[in-house]
Amino acid sequence: MFPPAKYGFSKTDVCFNSFHYVILSCRVCMPYITVLRRYLHPCISHGYSNNDYRNNFDEERYVMALRKPFVAGNWKMNNLVGESLALVEALKPLVAGVAAVDMAVCPAYTSLHAVGKALAGTNIQLGAQNAYVKESGAYTGEISPKMLLDVGCAWTIIGHSERRHILGEADAFLNEKLRFSLACGLKVMFCIGELLEERKDGKMESVLERQVVKGLEGMTAADLDNVVIAYEPVWAIGTGETATPDQAEEVHVFVRNLIDKSFGADAASKMRIQYGGSVKPENASDLISRENVDGFLVGGAALKADSFAAIINACA
Ligand code: PGA
Repeated sequence: MFPPAKYGFSKTDVCFNSFHYVILSCRVCMPYITVLRRYLHPCISHGYSNNDYRNNFDEERYVMALRKPFVAGNWKMNNLVGESLALVEALKPLVAGVAAVDMAVCPAYTSLHAVGKALAGTNIQLGAQNAYVKESGAYTGEISPKMLLDVGCAWTIIGHSERRHILGEADAFLNEKLRFSLACGLKVMFCIGELLEERKDGKMESVLERQVVKGLEGMTAADLDNVVIAYEPVWAIGTGETATPDQAEEVHVFVRNLIDKSFGADAASKMRIQYGGSVKPENASDLISRENVDGFLVGGAALKADSFAAIINACA
């Protein structure tokens, strides 16, 4: 039987050829095995610990894969109920097929109920622009997280620069709002951002650090699962002046490191950091291409269905 001498092969030929085929198969298969290990294994292994994989996997790619972009429209004090409904009805078909991006709209309080109903069963979530720190009671003019949940809100914005600077909301109060909203079951887009003078005076990092540390005080890494940070340089909001992708990336890395210091590498790698400030269809692709830009909080450009949809599609 062996060696098959009738075919002119010696035992040595057969051994050598078999060895050769084994080596060849390994060489052909190895790149596929490496790719599968690198990209699939971390994604299906939720028991991931940064240190376990640091040496074996392309961690940055894994981290990017985990952070689904999140684009939210902050409508501010705009749109009557009819206008709000017309806007979401125009938006719905434009983003109906988008599964790769989380998206939300944050209308004024008066439109929340109607817009919530119009969004039922769609891929667009509902958010509010603010929430108070009590469930109910004698707090004239305020609105509670429970009321927001009741009309279908999944999210609220907390700490927008207009509330910090026009309405004088301070870090400790924003921390209270953030924690109370989470405790009630809302998810929070927590806004931070420096003024132009602060950036010019070299105080940007200390301001952002104060806002992050005080804003997230007393919270756990698990709480952060329901928090998104929105970096919105105040000088870029509604001014038409946008942070460059480099400026946004630099700050997002700085903020992620702050989260790492206080809550650990896992929480930092999972935290979605949106950029906000004059985001438009023209600059969205460049900004989202940066590794640490995980979506947008959009003001003016969210008031038109086509421009908001174009920004969402740039992230898909
Ligand atoms: P803008 O506003 O996009 O109009 O600059 C952003 C925001 O305030 O969230």
